[in-house]
Amino acid sequence: MKEITLRNSGPVTACLSSGKGGVGKTSLSVNLAFALAQKGVRVLVVDGDLGLANVDVLLKLQVQSTIRDILDRGADPLEAVVYVEPRLGILPASSGVPDLADLGPDDHQELGSILQSLGDNFDFVLVDTAAGIGSSVLWFNTFVDHNILVLTPDPTAMTDAYALIKVLSRDYHRKSFHLLLNQVKNEAEAKQVYDHLARVASHFLSLDLEYLGGVPHDPAVSKGVRDQVPFIKISPRSKAALAISGYAERLLTWAAQKPANRKTAV
Ligand SMILES: Nc1ncnc2c1ncn2[C@@H]1O[C@H](COP(=O)(O)OP(=O)(O)OP(=O)(O)O)[C@@H](O)[C@H]1O
Ligand SMILES: [Mg+2]
Repeated sequence: MKEITLRNSGPVTACLSSGKGGVGKTSLSVNLAFALAQKGVRVLVVDGDLGLANVDVLLKLQVQSTIRDILDRGADPLEAVVYVEPRLGILPASSGVPDLADLGPDDHQELGSILQSLGDNFDFVLVDTAAGIGSSVLWFNTFVDHNILVLTPDPTAMTDAYALIKVLSRDYHRKSFHLLLNQVKNEAEAKQVYDHLARVASHFLSLDLEYLGGVPHDPAVSKGVRDQVPFIKISPRSKAALAISGYAERLLTWAAQKPANRKTAV
């Protein structure tokens, strides 16, 4: 196992978001987290889809308490974390609770303190957010150091990703975005989609978007979802698993860097 130099100022925090729904955020978050844990770091996945949680379903988890229980009735955050591997913890959210889909400012502040103290036990905190530009999606994106935008080559996924980037840069002063292209035919297609969006963002928003990479459309991903087991675990040699493992290596390098985006008080 490689020796990893970690920052001594808390975990690397990142969230995976998208404008459009169903592009693969949850599948990629869970598998990236698995890949990171396999590489020897401690990872917390936060289910940031607060009204329609999915991470627990993807991993067939027995959930004791959720973010809602922590905020509403003071459940212990440490006890809410479900460990699926010795180095991989999940903080679950609840499903079918419209009131919780977007939290108010006080709850955001409390959630921020909870995540900060839970984060002391981990090297990485990955948040899988809901799709769109709801207030909690925007809050998670300003809470973390690194913003990963997930999109597919579908034109609506591209325009919705651009809309999210625009709101975050214009209204929340976020300046650094990593693009993760999912369900691509090949690396060339991923690069083409990235180049297009990067040109538009540079021209209209004066932003330099960063290219994280492409994940191929791969039946191993849907099989993992159906079997409720990470594809990186059951199909480690699949194209999607090899891609994700490479991006986990890239995320490890963030641990030695300064945060891409400064935390902003919200
Ligand atoms: N690379 C891929 N290859 C094949 N299928 C994929 C790939 N990525 C995602 N999928 C499929 O797309 C579906 C949606 O994925 P997922 O639930 O991860 O998306 P999401 O962005 O989290 O959705 P939501 O916005 O509803 O939270 C899943 O059924 C999954 O099997
Ligand atoms: Mg999801």
